[in-house]
Amino acid sequence: MNESQRKTNYREAASELAALLEGIRDPICAMATCASVLQGRLPRASWVGFYRVVAPELLRVGPYQGPIGCLEIPFSRGVCGAAARERRAQLVPDVHAFPGHIACDDAARSEVVLPVFDPAGDLIAVLDLDSHEPAAFDEIDLEGLERVVEVIRPALVLPAAV
Ligand code: SME
Repeated sequence: MNESQRKTNYREAASELAALLEGIRDPICAMATCASVLQGRLPRASWVGFYRVVAPELLRVGPYQGPIGCLEIPFSRGVCGAAARERRAQLVPDVHAFPGHIACDDAARSEVVLPVFDPAGDLIAVLDLDSHEPAAFDEIDLEGLERVVEVIRPALVLPAAV
């Protein structure tokens, strides 16, 4: 895929998710659907999924596609921890050069992680994509994934009790 195809791919992923999640207010449904859409569109990603904030300074794995991921990651550790701690996206072309990288999958070489905020602006999760290829992700991915995270944001609230 060339640059323009990659950008289109993300625009289509965002539209697809907006249509799929219309009227849905359910974080698990939104995260699971998002992981599936991204995994289907990004063949270079070996793992696509969410880590949720479940306690102060603690992430626990949420909906994902790929091999078994680490179950819990403290904010103090790894690329996911850094994204949660700094509330900032992390683009890591070489995971071995990242201090404290957590190797859930020994074959992982590069990674991109974005913070995920709910409609109230609270950090509720991070979106993590790993690849077995070095430098698999770049600014196009970052921009595209930011768009995707914005699109699913309205769905990241629990519905009123029934
Ligand atoms: N590599 C990540 C851990 C999560 S997984 O690889 C699924 C990290 O350093 O935060």
